[in-house]
Amino acid sequence: MMTNPVLEAIYNRRSCRSFKPEPISKEIINTIIEAGNRAPSQGRVEKGKKDPLFQPWRFVVVENPEFKNQLLKTTLPIWKKSTEQMKTLFPEMYAKAMRLQEVMDEPKDMVYYSAPVILFIIGLAEYAVSCALACQNIMIAAQSLGLGSCYVGFGSLVKGDAEIVQTLELTDNERIYGPIILGYPKDIPEAHAMLSKKEEPTIKWI
Ligand SMILES: Cc1cc2nc3c(=O)[nH]c(=O)nc-3n(C[C@H](O)[C@H](O)[C@H](O)COP(=O)(O)O)c2cc1C
Repeated sequence: MMTNPVLEAIYNRRSCRSFKPEPISKEIINTIIEAGNRAPSQGRVEKGKKDPLFQPWRFVVVENPEFKNQLLKTTLPIWKKSTEQMKTLFPEMYAKAMRLQEVMDEPKDMVYYSAPVILFIIGLAEYAVSCALACQNIMIAAQSLGLGSCYVGFGSLVKGDAEIVQTLELTDNERIYGPIILGYPKDIPEAHAMLSKKEEPTIKWI
């Protein structure tokens, strides 16, 4: 198979759910955010003026342990409720989540996996495609710099907490993409062996 550093980062990226506690330097975090910022984005027309380079996103980097705790306190009950529902509907998925919980360090943070950095990609609701592209750039850049990452949809369910909404400065027309957790990986191989193996792509040639 053909390869190069970009393809290697894409092929080797897997969701990481176990991190070393060591922090990530500001320089690296900024580099990763810049990769997100360079994603393709859909232009807009506002007040009759064309803005083809409109970037519909902004970023919030969370490292503060108290704020992380507050995020977890808000999202963990939602995670628990969904996981309970999985039990009967998707028993295999439920078993995987439980196995992952068993190998985690205390305290069990099943939403953000005690990652050193939680990166919120916040964008306008109608620009979901552009924001998703920024997210993917971020995860590939992280991989290329030796970091693990995971897009944690559960981690975005914080809109019910007024204080969190205020701290993130979320407005009504914004939504959270990600957040993406980042850190130096502890044991990716075990995590991905448990969670997913990639199937061959479905392709139709015409
Ligand atoms: C929209 C979206 C939401 C996700 N939410 C979560 C989540 O809340 N928790 C989690 O552990 N993984 C989450 N993931 C990661 C997926 O589980 C993971 O990408 C998938 O199993 C494929 O594995 P891979 O990333 O290793 O290729 C999410 C991924 C996407 C794209």
